[in-house]
Amino acid sequence: MLKTIYLIVTVILRFELSNTQILHFGKCAEVETMRYFDLERFLGIWYEIERFPTWYEENGHCAHKRIQACGRTVVIEHYFIRNGIQYVLQMNSTYSPGDEAVFEIEESNIDPVGIPFSVITTDYDNYAIVYGCKYNEHIHIKYISAWILSRTSTLSPELREQARSELTSIPFANAAYLQTVEQGERYCTYHWTAYVQTQDKDIENV
Ligand SMILES: *[C@@H]1O[C@H](CO)[C@@H](O)[C@H](O)[C@H]1NC(C)=O
Repeated sequence: MLKTIYLIVTVILRFELSNTQILHFGKCAEVETMRYFDLERFLGIWYEIERFPTWYEENGHCAHKRIQACGRTVVIEHYFIRNGIQYVLQMNSTYSPGDEAVFEIEESNIDPVGIPFSVITTDYDNYAIVYGCKYNEHIHIKYISAWILSRTSTLSPELREQARSELTSIPFANAAYLQTVEQGERYCTYHWTAYVQTQDKDIENV
């Protein structure tokens, strides 16, 4: 029990200290999301092939996302391994059939900005591009995140190229930000799992 609490505190501190989110001045660009989005087909495991640096996944290897639906609630879990610890960060969103392919995210200890997840395009069976942008009007800064995802831990060079060019057609989604996510077995061993749920409360209340 003590160990669990210690790990959660560590995670929160690291989020605040890390400074690796993509920031730009000005409002978010309008983006077109996946048409006729079918949530059922999108559920399940998505491996991260490449991503923009994201504060809560910083240096996380073997990263994948698990997306589950429970009624209108969509549970998004970010799995990754860092320093021999597997982290599972859980965030909840909602989705109703016919909605635009966007999962809104509340501000929380995991993501203090609440960057949404917009499914830009996917073929459901092989790859997906997920992008997010959130504008803070007080400081005139937008926060951008993006992932190229695959149903397996690899992605063919053709689909990777295609995903890259689709992603980087979005204004400010520069290909230079993309980082490869290590998926090799030697990066994937871990000794602990730290489950972290979102909380709106302060760290003192953990
Ligand atoms: C997210 O949703 C799941 C499933 O409904 C629930 O068990 C969990 O407690 C929720 N988490 C938060 C932080 O609300």
